[in-house]
Amino acid sequence: MHTAMTPALAEGAVLLNQPNSGLSLADEAALLDAGLPPINGDFTGKDLLVAGQLSAADLEIFFGETDLMDHVESDQGKVRLLGNRVVLNEFFEPSTRTDYSSRFAAIALGADVVVFNADGSTSLKKGETDLDTVVTMDQYIGGELGGLHVIRHPDRRFVYEAADAVEHPVINAGNGAGEHVTQGMLDVVTIRRRLGEFAGKTVVFYGDMLKGRTSHSTAELLAKLGVDKMFFVAPNAFQMPEEVLAKLDRLGAAYEMTDDIEGVIADADVLYRMRLQLERFSEEERRAMPRMGMVSPELLEHAKETLVMLHPFPEDSRIPDFHPAVRKDPRFAVWEQTRQGKIARMALFALTLGRPLSGLSDLQRERILSA
Ligand code: NCD
Repeated sequence: MHTAMTPALAEGAVLLNQPNSGLSLADEAALLDAGLPPINGDFTGKDLLVAGQLSAADLEIFFGETDLMDHVESDQGKVRLLGNRVVLNEFFEPSTRTDYSSRFAAIALGADVVVFNADGSTSLKKGETDLDTVVTMDQYIGGELGGLHVIRHPDRRFVYEAADAVEHPVINAGNGAGEHVTQGMLDVVTIRRRLGEFAGKTVVFYGDMLKGRTSHSTAELLAKLGVDKMFFVAPNAFQMPEEVLAKLDRLGAAYEMTDDIEGVIADADVLYRMRLQLERFSEEERRAMPRMGMVSPELLEHAKETLVMLHPFPEDSRIPDFHPAVRKDPRFAVWEQTRQGKIARMALFALTLGRPLSGLSDLQRERILSA
């Protein structure tokens, strides 16, 4: 979708195109985000690239839609809500959950699914750019709200460029070490389902937050939803980046950074574990890496009975984040979180393509549900 470039973004784009722009990551992110329209109560036809576009009120609309989608998904599996529309997955980085939950979400709503993976079978091999590839795909979608792009790319700027270059809405499915807004949305849906509300809750993030983009989106959404406190637990080398902390400060969020998981576990209502993003570090950095402990049954002895344990997954089996016994603990909510990935994307696709269940009359909804 074309978004009007603000003067700041236009200036930023020029700077960003120079190899040594001298911009810090935080400045770069702020410039890029400045050009994005807020959702402001209406998802229809809009790109969704970062958590900053969503307000607490937008999230309430989204939650309402996920509640309806949850019923659809568990009662009958499929409806023809998005017939004649296309969900186009374009993945330039590996993915299991985000790619496949998007496919299943689209199928559940009767949309067609087209999947592009940068696996060497297309003209990328002939030197075509990733951007030309995405613009090419855009020509085939047809109709203003005929479909949307779900894009994952290792370069954090790419989704912004793509959103600017194509006619149809773009949903960010992970941009390098930047953000992963739909993961953030499914994370908060899962927390809401388990705990009911956000006020008064303490959320402990534990793992690689430096490169782990999901935590960037999730923490910002949790701040908007008014959690009481967040702890970021990691050695300094993996702590939450400055640019994210700056956003949390602007939102007035209460957070603390520590590397002592034992010291905070008893306070946690949610424990959000994340893997080391090995592929985003150099060989030299990897050798110098400090280790973080597994979540063990012993650690959980000090945790609340009502704790909700989440992880965006994958878990790297070479350096596991959970002791195997922990997966059997009723507080381990990762598979439920995984299922919510499908529900959350069903809700977001319907909202973005202008066909939310919540926007239909009872009669229309009845017709769609019984077709
Ligand atoms: C994450 C990602 O790709 O950012 N996975 C996901 O989308 N569920 C987390 C990760 O790769 O560690």
